[in-house]
Amino acid sequence: MKTMINVALPKGRLGEKVYRYFKNAGYECPSIEETNRKLIFENPDKGVRYFWVKPSDVPIYVERGAADIGVAGKDILLEYEPDVYELLDLNMGKCRMAVAAKKDFRDSKGTTLRVATKFPNIAGNFYAEKCRDIDIIKLNGSIEIAPILELSDVIVDIVETGTTLKENDLEVVETIVPISARLIANKSGYKFKNEEILNIRKSLEEQVRLQG
Ligand code: PRP
Repeated sequence: MKTMINVALPKGRLGEKVYRYFKNAGYECPSIEETNRKLIFENPDKGVRYFWVKPSDVPIYVERGAADIGVAGKDILLEYEPDVYELLDLNMGKCRMAVAAKKDFRDSKGTTLRVATKFPNIAGNFYAEKCRDIDIIKLNGSIEIAPILELSDVIVDIVETGTTLKENDLEVVETIVPISARLIANKSGYKFKNEEILNIRKSLEEQVRLQG
């Protein structure tokens, strides 16, 4: 019997694009394309089992070995620092992590900077390197509202097109890091299913190259 590779895919638009890469790479699974509420799909002939999970949960499934491989944004990987291997930059889901603020914002260095974010670890590391004293305000969404309502001085958030910032009269102060989707692997899965995982990695790399 073929070795099954368990793949955690991020639910949503990015995940659908990721699945298309797997499909074009020769790891199709027809049942996943039927519209239903199922979350697990497998194609034993191809040796793959896919499951849709919340994007920020992908590293948890992979780190704990419930999935052998998965696809997660670099933002999630930097935030949670899971103990996994990062195998490939899929060159999709591209955006950047940035500091943004109201247009008239001027940083006065003597004060504690109030930073609203969904990414406290990324924000904390970024300002620790600058030895800047900050107060992190952890939010779960609609971060752009925080400086407008004077809840924070700046935000640390994902900027993709820049539309959300623009429509809320905010602007990027500084880019922290570019972000894209990454193929990750469980460390022991990578050892014991090495050949299968490397084959998937190679076929996906070819897809990335073709999409250029
Ligand atoms: C993300 C991010 C920004 C927005 C950036 O939010 O937090 O708000 O996308 O995209 P843009 O630069 O193309 O406008 P998301 O849609 O994930 O919702 P959220 O409010 O729950 O964070």
